[in-house]
Amino acid sequence: MNRKRMGLCVMAALVCGAAVELMAEEATIELALAGKADLVVKRGYTAEAAACVECHAKETPGVVEGWRSSRMAHVGVSCYDCHSVEKSSPMASQCSGIKGTETFISPMVSPTTCARCHPAEVEQFSKSGHARLAAVPVVDSEKFKTLMYKLEGGEFMHPDVPGSTASRSTGCQQCHGTEIELGPDNKPINDTWPGGVGQRYPDGGIGNCTVCHTRHMFSIAEARKPEACASCHLGPDHPDIEIYLSSKHGQVFLAHGDDWTWDSPPDAWEPGDYKAPTCATCHMSGIGELKTTHNINERLHWDLVHPKSVVRSGERGDGEKGRPLMEKVCKNCHGPTHTGSFMGQLDQAVALYNEYYEGAEKMREELAARKLLKGDRWSDGFMELHYYLWHHTGRRARHGAAMNGPDYAHWHGFFQIFQVYKDMQAIYDYRIKHGEIEELSTVMNSGPE
Ligand code: HEC
Ligand code: HEC
Ligand code: HEC
Ligand code: HEC
Ligand code: HEC
Ligand code: HEC
Ligand code: HEC
Ligand code: HEC
Repeated sequence: MNRKRMGLCVMAALVCGAAVELMAEEATIELALAGKADLVVKRGYTAEAAACVECHAKETPGVVEGWRSSRMAHVGVSCYDCHSVEKSSPMASQCSGIKGTETFISPMVSPTTCARCHPAEVEQFSKSGHARLAAVPVVDSEKFKTLMYKLEGGEFMHPDVPGSTASRSTGCQQCHGTEIELGPDNKPINDTWPGGVGQRYPDGGIGNCTVCHTRHMFSIAEARKPEACASCHLGPDHPDIEIYLSSKHGQVFLAHGDDWTWDSPPDAWEPGDYKAPTCATCHMSGIGELKTTHNINERLHWDLVHPKSVVRSGERGDGEKGRPLMEKVCKNCHGPTHTGSFMGQLDQAVALYNEYYEGAEKMREELAARKLLKGDRWSDGFMELHYYLWHHTGRRARHGAAMNGPDYAHWHGFFQIFQVYKDMQAIYDYRIKHGEIEELSTVMNSGPE
């Protein structure tokens, strides 16, 4: 591992020219932070960059304390490097500390800024579902806007206030991201900032690196822990953290994770530092001959998000290439028989789920042809069940099977798919037999848990 570490330092010096340049103009100062005489940071910054830190140590000590403990603070990347913008930038503004100077800043920082020093990470990230695709449901898709406002409750209580955005801005947007709108002072308006992983910035940048590396520590160790994914990958429709923590891998993490080494350099975090994989190990980290990737689609085979599961292609990734990459991850710790058997089980689970989904679609198509579906699918019992079948129970079964979560694969998954399917059949039979829609919603509104 030592050889790898050394190689990496040389790389960092080459890649990070901008930071090195900054330190060349050195105007070394001492910063006594928030009156703590024992915590003195001694680094080289331009006078301008030092002024941001000095004043903000009083104005926003929480930010400066986080930054101070970060790897980037230690190599001389400062507030100025990330927050200063050209005067002509659509996001340019000035805080009270720099009013009247020629320096302009923004509270928004997009991946375009990170790309100056981390071009490879940003390029990989940009190709992933975490970038442009993530905000599609919130920003681009009329279908989803209708789904949200008309069907998922956005307008329900306020029919006279069309476009009420509270459930969007506090829900979908915090995970998926949205497009930032700016007011006359170039500051964000209409609740469009901050936002989730696919945030779209006025400077053209797409994405939010801080969802996994929270500001201002930007820690690689944090991003490697399952908690980094848990704020979004949870709940009834994609319970990935619940699945993980109840898997054998999660058991080992919960029992021993406190003793693992989390801060090895990129591509040098290997079995031995840890005994079982976390989300990052399987989906992102370098392990064995695999290199770290910020494209979380790279190692995936199936599309397990959408109503019907197909092998990934096009902008969703290349599923044929994904499978052998994921198998390489497993083979660092498991033999080929174990890994082959596991992937075979996953494929069986996908096939069984798809069979249920196709059966449900056939019933839906026939009911639609006979005009036996209501216009509002949220008050049509059959359509409510159809949604729960694929979006809740069906995702749980598939994600459970993919990540060794037997309770989610069966009890929260296939068992409930089977229950929901039987109820759909009963409604279908009734409507076909009587040529009419039953009067009350037959479905409990909270859906199967
Ligand atoms: C490595 C880049 C980087 C450095 C260095 C950095 N920031 Fe930030 N900062 C960010 C990012 C990214 C965000 C989140 C922006 C977003 O969501 O659009 C942010 C957000 C902020 C915000 C707005 C969010 C809030 O909680 O109000 C403030 C204020 C801020 N930073 C101040 C500072 C100060 C002061 C320093 C120096 C001590 C600093 N930053 C150093 C990248 C950086
Ligand atoms: C003399 C003190 C002082 C200096 C120097 C200073 N700031 Fe500020 N900054 C403030 C104060 C006070 C605020 C709170 C909002 C305001 O008054 O504008 C602030 C707010 C901010 C915000 C948040 C803006 C928002 O809309 O929420 C950012 C980002 C920021 N400063 C970055 C910087 C950067 C980068 C520098 C260096 C180029 C800098 N500041 C220099 C005092 C200072
Ligand atoms: C001016 C150049 C520069 C900018 C801009 C910059 N970084 Fe860095 N970053 C560095 C350097 C240098 C390192 C240290 C590399 C090393 O230790 O090998 C680093 C390290 C990191 C690390 C690894 C931290 C660790 O714990 O090892 C992360 C994560 C990171 N940066 C994220 C970001 C993000 C996110 C942004 C944009 C918001 C950003 N950086 C902007 C230069 C920069
Ligand atoms: C707690 C975070 C969270 C919230 C809130 C959330 N989502 Fe998601 N959403 C996710 C995650 C994580 C996935 C990916 C699941 C997977 O890969 O199986 C996802 C997947 C999706 C997908 C499928 C992906 C695609 O590109 O087609 C759509 C559509 C979607 N969400 C729409 C919405 C809408 C609309 C809302 C608000 C009504 C919303 N989501 C609220 C986290 C969230
Ligand atoms: C989905 C979570 C996630 C997001 C989003 C994310 N990162 Fe990372 N990042 C990680 C993980 C996990 C690692 C550690 C990989 C490993 O173990 O080698 C990492 C490592 C890094 C490193 C250290 C060098 C390397 O490549 O391993 C840098 C620099 C970095 N990230 C920058 C960024 C930037 C810039 C963005 C935004 C474009 C970003 N990250 C967004 C999870 C994330
Ligand atoms: C801020 C919320 C958020 C965080 C944190 C987050 N994700 Fe995601 N993730 C999403 C959303 C939203 C999607 C759906 C993207 C889409 O529309 O295709 C997603 C999709 C995915 C997908 C499926 C990709 C696809 O295109 O279907 C994987 C795999 C994934 N995330 C892994 C991770 C891992 C691993 C971590 C932690 C290291 C993580 N995510 C952290 C929000 C998040
Ligand atoms: C042991 C390795 C492993 C671990 C640990 C792991 N995953 Fe996965 N994950 C997989 C495999 C394998 C698949 C299915 C890949 C395929 O498509 O064939 C998958 C699928 C997914 C998907 C569904 C992608 C889609 O098609 O919709 C998401 C989202 C996801 N993982 C997120 C996470 C999160 C978040 C964590 C941690 C809480 C995590 N994973 C932990 C191996 C892992
Ligand atoms: C860093 C090592 C490591 C990696 C990488 C890894 N696993 Fe594991 N796995 C373990 C450990 C340790 C256990 C617990 C073994 C036990 O129960 O005694 C385990 C247990 C399992 C189990 C539970 C059944 C059993 O053998 O006890 C399954 C299934 C599994 N892993 C599948 C996978 C798959 C699939 C991958 C790749 C996508 C993978 N693992 C990657 C270390 C790893």
